[in-house]
Amino acid sequence: MGTNLRGRHLLSLKHHTSQEIEYLIKLSTDLKNKKLAGERGKLLEGKNIALIFEKASTRTRCAFTVAAIDEGGHSEFLGVNDIHLGVKESVSDTARVLGRMFDGIEFRGYSQKFVEDLAEYSGVPVWNGLTDDYHPTQVLADFMTVRENFGKLRGIKFVYVGDGRNNVANTLMIGAAKVGMHFTIAAPEELFPDPLLVEECIKIAEENELGGTIEITKDAKSAVKNADVIYTDVWASMGEEAKLAERKKILWPYQVNMDLIKAADNKNVIFLHCLPAVKGYEVTEEVFESTYGRQFDQAENRLHTIKAVMVASIGNL
Ligand code: CP
Ligand code: NVA
Repeated sequence: MGTNLRGRHLLSLKHHTSQEIEYLIKLSTDLKNKKLAGERGKLLEGKNIALIFEKASTRTRCAFTVAAIDEGGHSEFLGVNDIHLGVKESVSDTARVLGRMFDGIEFRGYSQKFVEDLAEYSGVPVWNGLTDDYHPTQVLADFMTVRENFGKLRGIKFVYVGDGRNNVANTLMIGAAKVGMHFTIAAPEELFPDPLLVEECIKIAEENELGGTIEITKDAKSAVKNADVIYTDVWASMGEEAKLAERKKILWPYQVNMDLIKAADNKNVIFLHCLPAVKGYEVTEEVFESTYGRQFDQAENRLHTIKAVMVASIGNL
């Protein structure tokens, strides 16, 4: 099954099946155990990986870098001000040049079209490290963390609260539909996800017959009832800083605080956040520091899942 992923891009999770997602998580777990046992490997030996960043990053950049080194590969950081991409040189030209030098390319930036063009023209696997629309490597780490806590993905009640139309919410919804979760977004109506994407995800869930459901609601308190996972993200994503004041006006009822955690009425509920967190807004310090929080396991799992993504598509397996 793993060989299906050879040479493949990771652009949104839309093109990955439930089995492929489960495979990547299983591979991530194996690689995590290998690292915890103190072993380093050669699965990426001889592989050169380009890391293009238009937006800031702590976890994603470090995860790609450390993952490559752990398995004997080399990564090269290409900050947007260091290269000509999209300024003096078209994306397709840059893609064709990088594709002749690198074995794989990570891209973080604004436009989804940009990462799709890189994939189309480079001739090597391209991994989306976050765009305005999607954040697929994040969701693999999120699901790995869910599996570590509950032993499964299918049937999990997963509730995302806050900005319901950002890159993380969009990709969680796609992933949840793929693996058969009961997924809810609780958000103010202005921040509901794109209805076309919701429709697409409902169709994915119906067609794969894993029993997944998708619900969009304004009512955070009822949404979290019996939740296994309560997830939130920042109220203004990178590039949307000017919208923060407006967001604050409508998002207070969606803050993850102890009242919302209690409303789950599930002593095993866990709190997840992709990080970075702006404490006091989307999540209180109390919840963040509580025993419900798994956000640092989740952050660590970025390393193992990103390693698995690279190994599966270009590794010496
Ligand atoms: N969660 C996440 O993508 O973190 P960074 O922005 O630090 O990479
Ligand atoms: N939605 C956030 C995620 C950060 C990892 C952003 O795009 O800024």
